[in-house]
Amino acid sequence: MYFKSPFTATLLVAAHMASLTTACSPSTFSTRNDNSSGPPITWGPDTPSDPATMGYFLNYFSINVKNLTATLDFYSRVFGLRHIFTVQASEHLSIAYMGHSQGGRNGTGYQTTAELNRDKNNAAGLVEMIYFDIPDKSHLQASSVRTNTFGHIGVIVPDVEAAQARLEALPDVRILKRVGAPTESEGEVAIANGFPPEALAQISAEERATIEAVLSAINERFLYVADPDGNMIEVQPQD
Ligand SMILES: *[C@@H]1O[C@H](CO)[C@@H](O)[C@H](O)[C@H]1NC(C)=O
Ligand SMILES: *[C@@H]1O[C@H](CO)[C@@H](O)[C@H](O)[C@H]1NC(C)=O
Ligand SMILES: *[C@@H]1O[C@H](CO)[C@@H](O)[C@H](O)[C@H]1NC(C)=O
Repeated sequence: MYFKSPFTATLLVAAHMASLTTACSPSTFSTRNDNSSGPPITWGPDTPSDPATMGYFLNYFSINVKNLTATLDFYSRVFGLRHIFTVQASEHLSIAYMGHSQGGRNGTGYQTTAELNRDKNNAAGLVEMIYFDIPDKSHLQASSVRTNTFGHIGVIVPDVEAAQARLEALPDVRILKRVGAPTESEGEVAIANGFPPEALAQISAEERATIEAVLSAINERFLYVADPDGNMIEVQPQD
Protein backbone atom coordinates (compact mmCIF):
# COMPACT_ATOMS: atom_id res chain seq x y z
CA MET A 1 0.00 0.00 0.00
CA TYR A 2 1.26 3.43 -0.89
CA PHE A 3 0.25 6.69 0.69
CA LYS A 4 -0.95 8.66 -2.31
CA SER A 5 -2.79 11.15 -0.14
CA PRO A 6 -2.68 12.16 3.50
CA PHE A 7 -6.12 10.63 3.90
CA THR A 8 -4.81 7.14 3.33
CA ALA A 9 -2.97 7.18 6.63
CA THR A 10 -6.11 8.41 8.35
CA LEU A 11 -8.11 5.59 6.81
CA LEU A 12 -5.49 3.10 7.94
CA VAL A 13 -5.69 4.43 11.45
CA ALA A 14 -9.48 4.49 11.32
CA ALA A 15 -9.52 0.88 10.18
CA HIS A 16 -7.30 -0.08 13.09
CA MET A 17 -9.32 2.03 15.49
CA ALA A 18 -12.61 0.53 14.41
CA SER A 19 -11.56 -2.81 15.82
CA LEU A 20 -9.86 -1.37 18.83
CA THR A 21 -12.32 0.83 20.61
CA THR A 22 -12.02 -0.99 23.87
CA ALA A 23 -8.26 -1.50 23.58
CA CYS A 24 -7.50 2.22 23.68
CA SER A 25 -7.64 4.26 26.79
CA PRO A 26 -10.40 6.87 26.61
CA SER A 27 -7.95 9.60 27.55
CA THR A 28 -5.89 8.88 24.44
CA PHE A 29 -8.55 7.94 21.92
CA SER A 30 -12.13 8.68 21.37
CA THR A 31 -14.82 6.07 21.58
CA ARG A 32 -18.11 6.03 19.80
CA ASN A 33 -19.55 8.25 22.54
CA ASP A 34 -16.69 10.67 22.72
CA ASN A 35 -14.77 11.73 19.67
CA SER A 36 -13.42 14.94 21.13
CA SER A 37 -9.79 13.82 21.14
CA GLY A 38 -7.44 11.67 19.10
CA PRO A 39 -7.34 11.09 15.36
CA PRO A 40 -10.56 11.42 13.39
CA ILE A 41 -12.60 8.25 13.18
CA THR A 42 -15.17 7.35 10.58
CA TRP A 43 -17.56 4.77 11.95
CA GLY A 44 -19.19 2.20 9.73
CA PRO A 45 -22.91 2.41 9.10
CA ASP A 46 -25.46 0.49 11.17
CA THR A 47 -26.92 -0.87 7.95
CA PRO A 48 -27.60 -4.57 8.45
CA SER A 49 -25.90 -7.08 6.18
CA ASP A 50 -27.71 -8.70 3.28
CA PRO A 51 -29.77 -11.43 5.03
CA ALA A 52 -28.52 -13.81 2.36
CA THR A 53 -25.10 -13.60 4.06
CA MET A 54 -26.43 -14.86 7.43
CA GLY A 55 -24.15 -17.64 8.58
CA TYR A 56 -21.14 -16.40 6.62
CA PHE A 57 -18.09 -15.96 8.83
CA LEU A 58 -14.32 -15.77 8.55
CA ASN A 59 -13.05 -19.28 9.08
CA TYR A 60 -9.34 -19.25 8.29
CA PHE A 61 -6.51 -17.44 6.62
CA SER A 62 -3.88 -19.13 4.52
CA ILE A 63 -0.14 -18.67 4.45
CA ASN A 64 2.38 -20.08 2.00
CA VAL A 65 5.20 -21.50 4.07
CA LYS A 66 8.83 -22.30 3.42
CA ASN A 67 9.18 -25.03 6.02
CA LEU A 68 6.02 -26.79 7.17
CA THR A 69 7.72 -28.50 10.10
CA ALA A 70 9.04 -25.22 11.44
CA THR A 71 5.70 -23.46 10.94
CA LEU A 72 3.64 -26.20 12.60
CA ASP A 73 6.08 -26.18 15.51
CA PHE A 74 5.95 -22.39 15.88
CA TYR A 75 2.17 -21.95 15.85
CA SER A 76 1.70 -24.92 18.14
CA ARG A 77 4.47 -24.17 20.66
CA VAL A 78 4.17 -20.38 20.71
CA PHE A 79 0.45 -19.74 20.22
CA GLY A 80 -1.14 -23.03 21.21
CA LEU A 81 -2.78 -23.86 17.88
CA ARG A 82 -3.41 -27.56 17.39
CA HIS A 83 -2.37 -29.37 14.23
CA ILE A 84 -5.62 -30.74 12.81
CA PHE A 85 -4.33 -32.41 9.64
CA THR A 86 -1.95 -32.27 6.71
CA VAL A 87 -3.12 -33.38 3.28
CA GLN A 88 -0.34 -34.62 1.00
CA ALA A 89 -1.83 -33.33 -2.23
CA SER A 90 1.02 -34.46 -4.44
CA GLU A 91 4.65 -35.41 -4.15
CA HIS A 92 5.70 -31.81 -3.41
CA LEU A 93 2.51 -30.08 -2.29
CA SER A 94 0.97 -30.41 1.13
CA ILE A 95 -1.74 -28.45 2.90
CA ALA A 96 -2.03 -28.31 6.66
CA TYR A 97 -4.68 -26.89 9.01
CA MET A 98 -4.24 -25.65 12.54
CA GLY A 99 -6.69 -24.10 14.97
CA HIS A 100 -7.31 -23.37 18.60
CA SER A 101 -9.50 -25.75 20.47
CA GLN A 102 -12.63 -23.62 20.71
CA GLY A 103 -14.76 -25.74 22.97
CA GLY A 104 -13.84 -23.10 25.55
CA ARG A 105 -11.42 -20.23 25.32
CA ASN A 106 -10.83 -20.38 29.06
CA GLY A 107 -8.77 -23.52 28.97
CA THR A 108 -11.54 -25.97 29.70
CA GLY A 109 -12.22 -26.71 26.07
CA TYR A 110 -9.94 -29.63 25.33
CA GLN A 111 -10.88 -31.37 22.10
CA THR A 112 -9.38 -34.39 20.43
CA THR A 113 -8.09 -33.92 16.90
CA ALA A 114 -11.19 -35.69 15.57
CA GLU A 115 -13.39 -33.22 17.49
CA LEU A 116 -11.35 -30.28 16.18
CA ASN A 117 -11.80 -31.59 12.66
CA ARG A 118 -15.54 -32.12 13.17
CA ASP A 119 -15.82 -28.47 14.30
CA LYS A 120 -13.53 -27.17 11.55
CA ASN A 121 -16.23 -25.47 9.48
CA ASN A 122 -17.85 -23.94 12.56
CA ALA A 123 -14.61 -22.61 14.07
CA ALA A 124 -13.05 -19.20 13.54
CA GLY A 125 -9.38 -18.30 13.41
CA LEU A 126 -7.96 -21.37 11.73
CA VAL A 127 -4.70 -21.20 9.79
CA GLU A 128 -4.12 -23.08 6.56
CA MET A 129 -0.51 -23.70 5.60
CA ILE A 130 0.36 -24.42 2.00
CA TYR A 131 3.74 -25.99 1.60
CA PHE A 132 5.30 -26.48 -1.80
CA ASP A 133 8.40 -28.51 -1.08
CA ILE A 134 10.64 -27.49 -3.96
CA PRO A 135 14.34 -26.63 -3.67
CA ASP A 136 14.10 -22.95 -4.58
CA LYS A 137 11.55 -21.10 -2.45
CA SER A 138 12.93 -17.63 -3.10
CA HIS A 139 9.57 -16.59 -4.61
CA LEU A 140 8.14 -16.60 -1.07
CA GLN A 141 8.69 -13.31 0.72
CA ALA A 142 7.05 -12.48 4.03
CA SER A 143 5.27 -9.17 4.50
CA SER A 144 7.88 -8.00 7.03
CA VAL A 145 10.56 -8.51 4.38
CA ARG A 146 8.76 -6.98 1.41
CA THR A 147 5.42 -5.24 1.70
CA ASN A 148 2.71 -7.18 -0.08
CA THR A 149 -1.06 -7.39 0.15
CA PHE A 150 -0.88 -9.65 3.20
CA GLY A 151 -0.26 -7.55 6.32
CA HIS A 152 -0.28 -9.50 9.54
CA ILE A 153 -2.14 -11.96 11.73
CA GLY A 154 -3.92 -10.87 14.93
CA VAL A 155 -4.07 -12.86 18.16
CA ILE A 156 -5.91 -11.91 21.39
CA VAL A 157 -4.42 -12.97 24.72
CA PRO A 158 -5.92 -12.55 28.21
CA ASP A 159 -2.75 -10.89 29.57
CA VAL A 160 -0.33 -9.39 27.06
CA GLU A 161 2.45 -8.71 29.58
CA ALA A 162 2.33 -12.34 30.74
CA ALA A 163 2.29 -13.48 27.11
CA GLN A 164 5.34 -11.35 26.38
CA ALA A 165 7.24 -12.81 29.36
CA ARG A 166 6.30 -16.31 28.19
CA LEU A 167 7.38 -15.67 24.59
CA GLU A 168 10.68 -14.15 25.73
CA ALA A 169 11.44 -17.35 27.63
CA LEU A 170 10.73 -19.58 24.60
CA PRO A 171 13.54 -20.43 22.18
CA ASP A 172 13.42 -19.13 18.59
CA VAL A 173 10.71 -16.50 19.05
CA ARG A 174 11.70 -13.26 17.41
CA ILE A 175 9.97 -10.26 18.99
CA LEU A 176 9.58 -7.29 16.63
CA LYS A 177 8.03 -4.84 19.11
CA ARG A 178 7.57 -5.14 22.85
CA VAL A 179 4.69 -3.85 24.92
CA GLY A 180 5.30 -0.16 25.65
CA ALA A 181 7.80 0.31 22.80
CA PRO A 182 7.01 2.81 20.04
CA THR A 183 5.79 1.73 16.61
CA GLU A 184 8.57 3.00 14.40
CA SER A 185 8.08 4.04 10.79
CA GLU A 186 11.00 1.95 9.65
CA GLY A 187 11.93 -1.69 10.06
CA GLU A 188 10.00 -4.92 9.79
CA VAL A 189 6.86 -3.75 11.58
CA ALA A 190 6.53 -0.78 9.21
CA ILE A 191 7.17 -2.97 6.17
CA ALA A 192 4.53 -5.48 7.30
CA ASN A 193 2.11 -2.64 8.07
CA GLY A 194 2.37 -1.44 4.48
CA PHE A 195 4.83 1.41 4.61
CA PRO A 196 8.31 0.46 3.42
CA PRO A 197 10.82 3.29 2.82
CA GLU A 198 9.71 3.73 -0.82
CA ALA A 199 6.14 4.36 0.37
CA LEU A 200 7.17 6.76 3.13
CA ALA A 201 9.28 8.67 0.59
CA GLN A 202 5.98 9.74 -1.00
CA ILE A 203 4.71 11.62 2.06
CA SER A 204 6.03 14.53 4.10
CA ALA A 205 8.29 14.14 7.12
CA GLU A 206 5.53 15.76 9.16
CA GLU A 207 2.99 13.12 8.15
CA ARG A 208 5.51 10.37 8.85
CA ALA A 209 5.91 11.77 12.37
CA THR A 210 2.12 11.82 12.74
CA ILE A 211 1.90 8.19 11.70
CA GLU A 212 4.58 7.21 14.22
CA ALA A 213 2.84 9.11 16.99
CA VAL A 214 -0.65 7.80 16.23
CA LEU A 215 0.40 4.18 15.69
CA SER A 216 2.66 4.25 18.75
CA ALA A 217 -0.33 5.31 20.84
CA ILE A 218 -2.72 2.78 19.28
CA ASN A 219 -0.21 -0.08 19.42
CA GLU A 220 1.31 0.79 22.78
CA ARG A 221 0.15 -2.37 24.55
CA PHE A 222 0.52 -4.56 21.49
CA LEU A 223 3.29 -7.07 21.04
CA TYR A 224 4.62 -7.97 17.60
CA VAL A 225 6.40 -11.21 16.84
CA ALA A 226 7.60 -12.90 13.65
CA ASP A 227 6.76 -16.45 12.60
CA PRO A 228 9.50 -18.61 11.04
CA ASP A 229 8.98 -17.04 7.58
CA GLY A 230 8.84 -13.50 8.96
CA ASN A 231 5.06 -13.12 8.89
CA MET A 232 4.10 -10.64 11.58
CA ILE A 233 1.74 -11.56 14.40
CA GLU A 234 0.11 -8.76 16.37
CA VAL A 235 -0.76 -9.81 19.90
CA GLN A 236 -3.44 -7.66 21.52
CA PRO A 237 -4.63 -7.74 25.11
CA GLN A 238 -8.18 -8.92 25.68
CA ASP A 239 -9.10 -5.65 27.37
C1 LIG B 1 -18.37 13.01 16.68
O1 LIG B 1 -18.01 13.55 15.42
C2 LIG B 1 -19.06 13.49 14.46
C3 LIG B 1 -18.48 13.96 13.13
O2 LIG B 1 -17.76 15.15 13.28
C4 LIG B 1 -20.23 14.32 14.93
O3 LIG B 1 -21.29 14.24 13.99
C5 LIG B 1 -20.71 13.78 16.25
O4 LIG B 1 -21.75 14.59 16.75
C6 LIG B 1 -19.57 13.72 17.25
N1 LIG B 1 -20.02 13.04 18.46
C7 LIG B 1 -19.87 13.57 19.67
C8 LIG B 1 -20.41 12.73 20.78
O5 LIG B 1 -19.29 14.62 19.86
C1 LIG C 1 12.68 -27.13 8.72
O1 LIG C 1 12.47 -26.85 10.07
C2 LIG C 1 12.86 -27.90 10.94
C3 LIG C 1 12.39 -27.53 12.34
O2 LIG C 1 12.79 -26.25 12.68
C4 LIG C 1 14.36 -28.08 10.83
O3 LIG C 1 14.77 -29.13 11.66
C5 LIG C 1 14.72 -28.39 9.38
O4 LIG C 1 16.13 -28.45 9.24
C6 LIG C 1 14.16 -27.35 8.45
N1 LIG C 1 14.34 -27.78 7.07
C7 LIG C 1 15.00 -27.05 6.20
C8 LIG C 1 15.09 -27.63 4.82
O5 LIG C 1 15.50 -25.97 6.47
C1 LIG D 1 -15.24 -22.01 30.56
O1 LIG D 1 -15.91 -22.22 29.36
C2 LIG D 1 -16.90 -23.22 29.41
C3 LIG D 1 -17.41 -23.44 27.98
O2 LIG D 1 -17.83 -22.22 27.41
C4 LIG D 1 -17.98 -22.78 30.40
O3 LIG D 1 -18.97 -23.78 30.49
C5 LIG D 1 -17.35 -22.57 31.76
O4 LIG D 1 -18.31 -22.07 32.65
C6 LIG D 1 -16.19 -21.60 31.66
N1 LIG D 1 -15.50 -21.53 32.94
C7 LIG D 1 -15.08 -20.37 33.47
C8 LIG D 1 -14.37 -20.49 34.77
O5 LIG D 1 -15.26 -19.29 32.91
